[in-house]
Amino acid sequence: MALPARSFTRSVAYRREVHERIPGGAHTYSKGDDQFPELSPAAIARGKHGRVWDLDGNEYVDCALGLGSVSLGHAYEPVLSAVRKQLDLGVNFQRPAVIELEFAREFLSAVPGAERIKFSKNGSTVTTAAVKLSRAFTGRDLVAFPGNHPFYSYDDWFIGSTVCKSGVPDSTRALSLTYDSTHPETLERLFSDHPGRIACVITEPEEICSSPPGALREAQKLARRHGAVFIVDEMVTGFRAGWPGAHARHGLEPDLVAWGKAIGNGFSICALTGRAGIMDLGGIRQEIAPRVFLISTTHGGETTGLAAGQAVLREFQTRDVLSRHRQRVESVAAGMRSAAAAARVSDFLEIHASSWRIVSVCLDGAGRPSPAFKTLLMQEMIGRGVLFHGYFLPCYTHTDEDVSQIVSAFEASCAVYRDALDQGMEKYLVGRPIRPVFRKYNGCAQVCPAMPCPLERECRGST
Ligand SMILES: Cc1ncc(COP(=O)(O)O)c(C=O)c1O
Repeated sequence: MALPARSFTRSVAYRREVHERIPGGAHTYSKGDDQFPELSPAAIARGKHGRVWDLDGNEYVDCALGLGSVSLGHAYEPVLSAVRKQLDLGVNFQRPAVIELEFAREFLSAVPGAERIKFSKNGSTVTTAAVKLSRAFTGRDLVAFPGNHPFYSYDDWFIGSTVCKSGVPDSTRALSLTYDSTHPETLERLFSDHPGRIACVITEPEEICSSPPGALREAQKLARRHGAVFIVDEMVTGFRAGWPGAHARHGLEPDLVAWGKAIGNGFSICALTGRAGIMDLGGIRQEIAPRVFLISTTHGGETTGLAAGQAVLREFQTRDVLSRHRQRVESVAAGMRSAAAAARVSDFLEIHASSWRIVSVCLDGAGRPSPAFKTLLMQEMIGRGVLFHGYFLPCYTHTDEDVSQIVSAFEASCAVYRDALDQGMEKYLVGRPIRPVFRKYNGCAQVCPAMPCPLERECRGST
């Protein structure tokens, strides 16, 4: 089925100019031109609920929603009106804004076991702060995290573990240890290889590559047994994979929890919650331990982000947002699976759905993960008005019509996928395939060292 005609004239001009002005062409690498097919929008002009419009005026159902940050919907009125109200009161003062304590109280009461909170504007600030606190608390310097997970921070302690490590000193890289979350014994080995030196284990509480049951609790147990701080990163899962996040659902009791993305509906608001005994190292009232210079930035308490976060929390507490999300995921997953089966591509186009997100994995005819087939799938979905990056995250205002459009675009795209398997992908893909975010040189397709997980390449390219 031929792609409907769509003009990308302004996108082409935008692409031509943007790299002359902004390195990377965007402020998140995963939004960059190398992450999208040639036939795709270069920039978005506006969004409303589950839809966006590009600079050429093309309309799309949005499946990724600001890298998962838009949990309620673009330009969602209850959040906007809270932000507007705050705008009239001022956004940054010489002393803390009243809303800082108000929101802290509300957020802490929503998170079991959390005694303290620090807000920030970006998730990386928060995960890095958790690592720093752990080092100060334990007096140790090594950090352990799953090397098969996609992303934890843009700071050196994480980026140094990827192939994109230029600019990170070897001495910093040597302090980061990775294990394979699908093989929990690899974490145990780290602890026995580095006795008394690991400050913390930081992990996401859900993953695309599945770990054996109980692996997360085992990681927590190992951290406790070896005197390391256990940190859960709920950046992707918070307010999505459970309430308030996934750690409660998995029976975890982390020392520190990092929050971001969905808690702000796209506004810049992230948080670190945790036990008083650790967090208070960054306070100004404890007198015994050396002070930790914990998250201190000019814009950390900027009030529109806090007002947005407060409105989002209240919406989640008064509406059954997670059930709505689940229904949308179930409908889209069912539609995608039957579309793939009908087109006889199920063995090459895998649909991995949990209760809160769908991840598709594209394989070539030989069953290998294929960026080219993924690009083709994106091209076909985008051409049919669905801004798709291989996954679906719902928002509260996605409608039945949005779901139908996603499914019918997927049906048509699966038919093209089948044709491409039969007749050669080159015949169908316009332009070059997408490339991994984490690659050493722009011109090459080198990815992080192969891990046993078959989805590794998908994971690593998805931040
Ligand atoms: C699991 C995880 N942790 C931390 C971060 C960093 O968050 P930010 O991009 O807000 O700095 C991300 C971003 O994608 C993430 O996915």
